[in-house]
Amino acid sequence: MEILVIEDPQKKEELLPIAYGQKQIVEASAVIAVLGDLEANKEADGIYQEAVDSGFMSEEVKETLVNQINGAYARGKEFGRDAAFLNASLAGMQLMLAAKVMGYDTCPIGGFNQEVFIKHFKVPERFAPIMLVTVGKAAKDAYPSSRKPVEQRATYNSF
Ligand SMILES: Cc1cc2nc3c(=O)[nH]c(=O)nc-3n(C[C@H](O)[C@H](O)[C@H](O)COP(=O)(O)O)c2cc1C
Repeated sequence: MEILVIEDPQKKEELLPIAYGQKQIVEASAVIAVLGDLEANKEADGIYQEAVDSGFMSEEVKETLVNQINGAYARGKEFGRDAAFLNASLAGMQLMLAAKVMGYDTCPIGGFNQEVFIKHFKVPERFAPIMLVTVGKAAKDAYPSSRKPVEQRATYNSF
């Protein structure tokens, strides 16, 4: 994944209509666009090489893992796209949790025009915009919300 941090007030104004006028775009201190990497396999060798160089992994294990990852991505573009959404979504949630720990508040925004965003912010073809995350200090408390009981969401052992 990759992030594009949009903090320049002018750039946030430009983003506002792309996010259908949602005011938090311009009111937040920053908007972080979380981008999925459609060719994330290209990173595998370098990342595992660091582990090899640090003595955490053998060269053989690295080769096996890199071959497995490249094999999965060779199945077709759909795999890379699914993986990009999965990886970037996990990173986006992690970003929000980390921000909270650091005393900031966030809002994930799926309501924006991805096509226009790509064109306007010159996002390279390799990346797919997954979500925008607004970050800042909350001006007021969040609206209260409810949660479904776990019994309505969880099935144990098998459907
Ligand atoms: C996939 C997804 C897309 C969302 N898109 C928007 C959005 O475009 N604008 C917005 O204000 N909030 C958006 N939200 C945030 C929700 O409105 C809500 O604030 C958030 O999920 C927290 O829910 P809770 O109040 O139940 O904790 C989105 C949330 C999710 C999961």
